[in-house]
Amino acid sequence: MLPIDPTKKISFSHIVCDGDLVIVYERHDNMKAVKVCQDSVLQNRFGVFKHSDWIGKPFGSKVFSNKGGFIYLLAPTPELWTLVLSHRTQILYIADISFVVMYLEIVPGCLVLESGTGSGSLTMSLARAVAPTGHVYTFDFHEQRVTSAREDFEKTEVSNLVTVGVRDIQGEGFPEEFSGLADSVFLDLPQPWLAIPSAAKMLKPDGALCSFSPCIEQVQRACDTLISKFTDIRTFEVLLRTYEVQEVRMDCSQGDGVNLGSLIRKRRRRSGEGNNVQDNLSSPTVMARPCSEAKGHTGYLTFARLKCLS
Ligand SMILES: C[S@@+](CC[C@H](N)C(=O)[O-])C[C@H]1O[C@@H](n2cnc3c(N)ncnc32)[C@H](O)[C@@H]1O
Repeated sequence: MLPIDPTKKISFSHIVCDGDLVIVYERHDNMKAVKVCQDSVLQNRFGVFKHSDWIGKPFGSKVFSNKGGFIYLLAPTPELWTLVLSHRTQILYIADISFVVMYLEIVPGCLVLESGTGSGSLTMSLARAVAPTGHVYTFDFHEQRVTSAREDFEKTEVSNLVTVGVRDIQGEGFPEEFSGLADSVFLDLPQPWLAIPSAAKMLKPDGALCSFSPCIEQVQRACDTLISKFTDIRTFEVLLRTYEVQEVRMDCSQGDGVNLGSLIRKRRRRSGEGNNVQDNLSSPTVMARPCSEAKGHTGYLTFARLKCLS
């Protein structure tokens, strides 16, 4: 995972090398992760792409197939990884992830505890946030998910920043060895209230916890448990509104429910472009409209800070 190298130094190498993981981008809703291998090819509807043509090119490059089709080679950032990983569970997406990382104040050097690991979507962003000197210890009681998560962390080169353990966190709590050492704890568990007493023990004084739950009943029960040891308890629902940006060429006779011709004319007048009554509506313009398939509710994020007892 760029920009981290195994020696925990920030790497500025942005060149595709043999053995690298790249995100092959066809369009925003069609990407996949591919391991670069000198003798391999990628075949898709645009033709055959030789991996050997990719080696030595900077990430972000446009590369061509034998038929002149093209794709982009992108660096495997946590943001893109979240869109291409194999879903073994429900996962956290970018809007919730970014809020979690900011609100828990996760910065280089932090020690973070997480459960459950699930598909490792959040873990990748936690790893990048704590790099190069911090560490994420993540636990799941499902052995196969732990094995797959470890493989993914190897593949994306964050395994020096993440340790994955098999453990029933609701039943046993976090391992005692982390008592008082964690800067933050993140829970994505069906019964978080069972893990909260252990999470409180793990946190440094003033450490912060976040619990993600899809249902408000889970939030209420978690808050009932939090109240004795935590303060500043706040729950958020992050709703993301996505817009589609498209270049359109309008002729007034076309309509899709709204009079786009008059909208364009108004906008051009406002920006001083279209004072002429005979606006040329056949020239292309860029329109942004709310995406019809925007994601709605994902879950509730409950944050709390450990009470300082002194
Ligand atoms: C929704 S997934 C977590 C997804 C993760 N946040 C992500 O972004 O990919 C919940 C995970 O919690 C794990 N889990 C459920 N109960 C658990 C327990 N008692 N101890 C540890 N893990 C548990 C499940 O196996 C599952 O993998």
